Amino acid sequence: MRKKIVAGNWKMNLDYANGISLFSEIVNMVRDEKKGDQIAIICAPYIHLNSLAQLGGEIVKIGAQNCHQNDSGAFTGEISATMIKSVGCEYVIIGHSERRQYFAEGNELLAQKTIKALENQLTPIFCIGETLEERNNGSYFEVLKAQLAQGIFGLSSADFSKVVIAYEPVWAIGTGLTATSDQAQEVHAYIRKEIEAKYDQEIADACTILYGGSCNPKNASELFAQPDIDGGLIGGASLKSRDFVDIVKAFNS
Ligand code: 13P
Repeated sequence: MRKKIVAGNWKMNLDYANGISLFSEIVNMVRDEKKGDQIAIICAPYIHLNSLAQLGGEIVKIGAQNCHQNDSGAFTGEISATMIKSVGCEYVIIGHSERRQYFAEGNELLAQKTIKALENQLTPIFCIGETLEERNNGSYFEVLKAQLAQGIFGLSSADFSKVVIAYEPVWAIGTGLTATSDQAQEVHAYIRKEIEAKYDQEIADACTILYGGSCNPKNASELFAQPDIDGGLIGGASLKSRDFVDIVKAFNS
């Protein structure tokens, strides 16, 4: 059985007090309402992580949104995977399209960050996804294949098995344009086939692949019902406790 995960990505939103308050609401609602074995995660800005990890306990897990590729040193303004781990985080998003686009993070760098996360016993949530142009010109499978091959297919089988993948079509992020469940399922099945070709069927079957991009309480159930979609990476809707928790509850089981 694959892990089912709903992870919120708060991006650069919420000051400290508002972050604590929203997270406390989410923890209480997940505790009272969640049925089933799905995992709820909030990936918050760095300043929130320490406090949230203490508030969340076993109920809502905590992740960072990025980490540096080195352990420590003269990298002013950066945060290492070791530091993230030290405050109780269990996850870290690597290679979000906003990091790729605005901070020029390429697959080679993202491969290094993934290794650092794993060395520090953090689960990487490794993001891949095509732009609208790449979708329209039909090159999206090649783009995704290269992101996988250069980003995470250098890992050993044992390390790869610890990675969560998030498929986030760039054209669906923050736009209200969700991929249809058929479009998302097509890509998730493709990703799983690529994993099988690189590793083996057992590893491919066990890999959790999340969908992200305008996922909301209305469309989550249909997306999560697809055979190769194991949950979601949620942006805007994770900033509202009711919406986020309804997405956590959207699995059919
Ligand atoms: P939205 O859910 O706001 O489209 O964002 C998706 C995302 O980028 C999550 O990482």
